Amino acid sequence: MTQTVLALETSCDETAVAVVQFHEGKFQILANCIASQADEHAQWGGVVPEIASRRHLEKMPFLLEKAIDQSGISISKVNAIAATVTPGLTGALLVGSITARTLACLHKRPFLGIHHLEGHLSSVFLSDSAPSPPYLVLLVSGGHTELIKVDTDLTYTRLGRSHDDAAGEAFDKVARLLGLSYPGGPEIEKIAEKGDPKSFSFPKGRVSRPEGGFYPYDFSFSGLKTAVMRQVERLNSSELELPLANLAASFENVVAEVLVERSLKCATENQLNSLVLVGGVAANHRLREMMFQKASEKLIKIHLAPKSFCTDNAAMIGTAGLLRLLSESRASSLELGVSARHPLDKSNLLYQINPPF
Ligand code: KG4
Ligand code: ZN
Repeated sequence: MTQTVLALETSCDETAVAVVQFHEGKFQILANCIASQADEHAQWGGVVPEIASRRHLEKMPFLLEKAIDQSGISISKVNAIAATVTPGLTGALLVGSITARTLACLHKRPFLGIHHLEGHLSSVFLSDSAPSPPYLVLLVSGGHTELIKVDTDLTYTRLGRSHDDAAGEAFDKVARLLGLSYPGGPEIEKIAEKGDPKSFSFPKGRVSRPEGGFYPYDFSFSGLKTAVMRQVERLNSSELELPLANLAASFENVVAEVLVERSLKCATENQLNSLVLVGGVAANHRLREMMFQKASEKLIKIHLAPKSFCTDNAAMIGTAGLLRLLSESRASSLELGVSARHPLDKSNLLYQINPPF
């Protein structure tokens, strides 16, 4: 059975269109087009929602044409048209969602509204080593840091989360403190290569339980960001040049250690022997290496999304669409709108006759 999905992603600052096909048990990318706005947002130090929506509108028609051309498949031949509908910037989400619904009407194709995090979770199926449920996912992006147990039938249980900043947000904020540009993750990674990860000792934030002790699988990154800020202030007052590489490497190392330690603890204590790493921060080399090394000591198998599909893209949205088709989810209602937030464990509601938003 061959199924093909045209997919649109516009939840933040990447306009993306892809055509993905499920053929003979494998996911194949027929087209994957992306237009990043990161350089334009960089001058403001972060994403400006109004600019993001405008650029999506401007770029979408050209990207669509390019993706359809590359794929060699006409829109009327795809099995469904998918678009990210939540979570994200609502003005930005609307561009992809309205485009997809209009195409669905015009070409009489089913529409699939996709949860962006389900898209990230699906990116691992674009690698050579897809996991089989149940498994644990560490999802680390600019807006989310979560440990999610995936069972059969696309059911999700959140076992851990950040109580403040997401890991990617911490990279972006610390990069700004160090005078590096947006997005901070790749900048910190580059500069950290020449640094000593043990030169500064930064805290591994913990979240206290009201009844005492700590939540074992939860994260807190705001104290770490403050610790880096204080260190930078101290160094600045001494008027010596900032040891940027050492600061970046020490920060990156402590984030990787925290993510690896808590994910492996969560996997072991929940008897899950497969761990999947997805989301923008999952592109980080130190994190990938450390996860592989520590997991092998505990006999946990690591499945990594390909690096190029860790950050936002439409191929992962198309893959999520195909998984929905394969799981025989009903198509989304054309009345399904967009929402800034919606829990992942309620993503089934996106395929109900009466949509949740
Ligand atoms: O998944 P993503 O593209 O967008 C969201 O859904 O949020 O993630 C973007 C985040 C940004 O915070 C960016 O700084 C971070 O992922 N990131 C990285 C790397 N590449 C992107 N963080 C650490 N190392 C990287 N190589
Ligand atoms: Zn994302």
